[in-house]
Amino acid sequence: MLRYVLQLVLIFFLLSNNAFSQGRVSIIPQPVSLIEGTGSFALAASTTIEISSAGLKSIGDYLSDQVHTSTGLSLSAKPVSTFSKNAIQLRLNGKAASNPEAYQLSVTPSEIVISADSAAGLFYGVQSLLQLIPPKTKNTGSGFAIPAVTVNDYPRFGWRGAMLDVARHFFTREQVKQFIDNMVRYKFNMLHLHLTDDQGWRLQIKSLPKLTDIGAWRPERVGKWGNTGRPSPNEPKTYGGFYTHDDIRELVKYAADRYVKILPEIEGPGHSLATIASYPELSCTTDSTYYVTVGDKIINWHSKGFTALLDNTLCPANEKVYTLLDKVFTEVAELFPFEYIHMGGDECPKDFWRNNPQIKALMKKEGLKDMNEVQAYFVKRVEKILKSKGKKLIGWDEIIDGGLPADAAVMSWRGMKGGIHAAKEGHKVVMSPHNHAYVDLYQGDPLAEPPTYGMVRLRDSYKFDPVPEGVDSSMILGGQWNLWTEQLQNPRAAQYMIWPRALAVAESVWSPKSRKDWKNFVSRVENEFVRMDEAKIRYSRSMYDPIVKTAKEGSNLKLTLETEVEGLDIYYSYDGSFPDNYYPKYSKPLIVPKDALEVKVVTYRDGKQMGKQINLPVAELAKRVK
Ligand code: ACM
Repeated sequence: MLRYVLQLVLIFFLLSNNAFSQGRVSIIPQPVSLIEGTGSFALAASTTIEISSAGLKSIGDYLSDQVHTSTGLSLSAKPVSTFSKNAIQLRLNGKAASNPEAYQLSVTPSEIVISADSAAGLFYGVQSLLQLIPPKTKNTGSGFAIPAVTVNDYPRFGWRGAMLDVARHFFTREQVKQFIDNMVRYKFNMLHLHLTDDQGWRLQIKSLPKLTDIGAWRPERVGKWGNTGRPSPNEPKTYGGFYTHDDIRELVKYAADRYVKILPEIEGPGHSLATIASYPELSCTTDSTYYVTVGDKIINWHSKGFTALLDNTLCPANEKVYTLLDKVFTEVAELFPFEYIHMGGDECPKDFWRNNPQIKALMKKEGLKDMNEVQAYFVKRVEKILKSKGKKLIGWDEIIDGGLPADAAVMSWRGMKGGIHAAKEGHKVVMSPHNHAYVDLYQGDPLAEPPTYGMVRLRDSYKFDPVPEGVDSSMILGGQWNLWTEQLQNPRAAQYMIWPRALAVAESVWSPKSRKDWKNFVSRVENEFVRMDEAKIRYSRSMYDPIVKTAKEGSNLKLTLETEVEGLDIYYSYDGSFPDNYYPKYSKPLIVPKDALEVKVVTYRDGKQMGKQINLPVAELAKRVK
């Protein structure tokens, strides 16, 4: 009995010191193992950065730069043969890496040691250490108190991705670098660049200059995407841009220096108007005047799917398409060292294919039964081209629909179903389901957020688990968040959508499933907001805003208000004024008075405003009642 009690006490002790105790320590993504010690290391001007070999200079310099940003201290990194006390020591273990991204971090009052079998591991150890440095305002005078801790850490998945759509809106080379800087803070290691779409072709192809002379430029638009004015024939094409080969080489190196690989995506057969505007002979449909679209409507989206108003596809029955793609992929393969190339494959309308004589002839010749098999024929031809360049194919999960080439990998976005199917058929899978990982969708009430479609709250992102039940985890390469930029024209707008949802995905792809804990995560997110302010990274505070549920009670509107985050008080008004914490406090569902035109809401915690002032027009809310 005593042994049993002692075991329980021990388990409790381990849990309270490890899994459940965050105390002074707040790291995102949550490490595999974290044990808090006593006391702290005083990071001060006298602290040195010591590296175990000259080869680690770039990581040492990186640490030095980041410490400077967050503290103002200037510590330079130098190689040593014997480590000293009062130093941050970066030590490469002299052995083969069992997991090249694993690291150990030990902070004691006398020294900080980060050790790993490879430089990538040290880089992640540095990221964790940076999150232990207290905010600038907390300099005690004798330095920044870094809490004593022992961390043992390694990632759950090798593919921890972030997709940036540079086609709909262009992000410059320097803006992409900043995107990389921000993603590596949370140990993401894969940058997927969506380089081509109906609204732009963003990669120089030297053998096909029209792709960027024509495909990279269009008239500029603001307003609601999918609904903007169509460009007139002679309208100046003032918006756009593309990456030269030199730009790409620079980005690939910049990324590699931060342990990030770049996955290039060249879309086909759908989403290809910029390609067709450049080379109209690539379409099956010859009677259109093709142009790079500007956000005007070219597809009719409806409950049963979509219908194309303009043929935006590369023609699978046209050999010129494969000749062009061979040239494109020759240059793409030379520029991007990563083993995979993404070929798109999503949302390809078949409306213009059905009655097309070229497609009919192809179907007859190849024995293709339906339009999905026509698309699958295209995918197989692309795979052959990629193989000839020494590359592997990955595509959106629609590439499954007509039968998948044996070696193709799948990126599952229409939920997890496609990924589950592909994994069971023996294909490698990256999970990026829209309902968890699309960080361009609404994260709070649409009445209070920039225009988009669909809803992915922070908690939805946190629930992301890349390995669904019944799937062999060895088939899952990892997970990825995607940022589509139809409505996002600049990096600040993009950051608002990315953070903090990408933090939730970071924890889904790095941390052990058993270490995930929503409440604890939220408190670490709040700590991270302070760091993001210091790093001048924009983020959304929508997790503090009320979730509004509507119903009818008699002829009145009934509103139920909740919050994702615990411990918030909601205040409301009906009189048009903006409420503060002296207004009525929400305690039970609201029956909106008959004449009220709007309900205004706001959240507070401990007397401090936490969420936005939100105006909910009653007429808009009434439309939501089923
Ligand atoms: C996608 O979101 N259409 C891949």
